[in-house]
Amino acid sequence: MSKVTVIGAGNVGATCANVLAHKDLVKEVVLLDIMGDVARGKALDTWQQAPIDNYSTFLRGTDDYKDTADSDIVVITAGVPRKPGMTRDDLISTNAKIVSSVTKSIMAHSKNPIIIVVSNPLDVMTYAAYKSSGLDASRVFGMAGILDTARYRGFLAEALQVSPKDIQAMLLGGHGDTMVPLPRYTTVAGIPVTELIDSATLDAIVERTKNGGGELVKLMGTSAWYAPGAAAAQMVEAILRDENRIFPCCALINGQYGLNNLFLGVPVKLGQSGISQILELKLNAEEMELMNTSAGHVRAVMDVYDGMNIA
Ligand code: NAI
Ligand code: 2OP
Repeated sequence: MSKVTVIGAGNVGATCANVLAHKDLVKEVVLLDIMGDVARGKALDTWQQAPIDNYSTFLRGTDDYKDTADSDIVVITAGVPRKPGMTRDDLISTNAKIVSSVTKSIMAHSKNPIIIVVSNPLDVMTYAAYKSSGLDASRVFGMAGILDTARYRGFLAEALQVSPKDIQAMLLGGHGDTMVPLPRYTTVAGIPVTELIDSATLDAIVERTKNGGGELVKLMGTSAWYAPGAAAAQMVEAILRDENRIFPCCALINGQYGLNNLFLGVPVKLGQSGISQILELKLNAEEMELMNTSAGHVRAVMDVYDGMNIA
């Protein structure tokens, strides 16, 4: 049985730990936060849910990295979320230092973990964890595409009055307003979505997806957590079960899509050793242009991170 650590016991981290416990996959989930009592309280609360919901996974809350020793997988959610009026990129000055120091503390206690980054700005925080960890890029990647496609699938399911389970979709690019949902790679039980929905409605759904995070920030005054926490837990599950799932994840791309040395959302194969393959789609000119715009945006924020001279 494996050990998973979730760093950050806030909205996303606590949800991720709770969803993971319900999957009953691991012996222990460690929930670590600088606010140790909050981590201890949320871990205890989730452990007390076990007899009701029938799982055996033990939850340990802590602020001590010794408790994270020999973790197989670490999910990083530490950092500040955005408030109304902020973009994800506005978070870089605070979160870059947090993600970098958290990563170093993880590496001091676990030899070769897989790290899944959730903190924003996602693509650049994944880069920060990669640089600070010294791990192979196949073992450091970010969660965004599963969430963004889930939003897209949910909007489509509502418009088409079908189950979201039957909607398959792919999405590329950075986790931000320049993300690239791909209607050409979207199906409803195998039927191309373009055969079932008019282009104006589809365009509106693509736009709503791009602004999906902002829509929730406006409604709640902070960013989302149920779907993000569940998305990170789904990645943990794919790894622990060695499922070779195909998910859009933020990964280091070197050569694919004509881009180099950049963390960006792409379809990957995810199993026990992390990312074993990056899938390269045959994009048309319009899709490639959107991908390049998104890549340029992420590159600019990566440059800001490099300029901070943190790692
Ligand atoms: P939150 O404020 O509820 O929780 C963040 C937690 O991190 C707090 O409990 C805080 O005490 C803790 N923390 C801060 N510094 C720390 C450190 N050095 N070590 C350990 N813990 C530390 O925020 P929430 O809503 O959970 O969001 C967390 C991050 O995830 C934010 O950056 C947010 O933007 C991002 N996010 C990313 C998504 C994605 O799709 N990639 C989706 C949703 C949120
Ligand atoms: C989201 O998309 C803010 O990245 C976070 O909900």
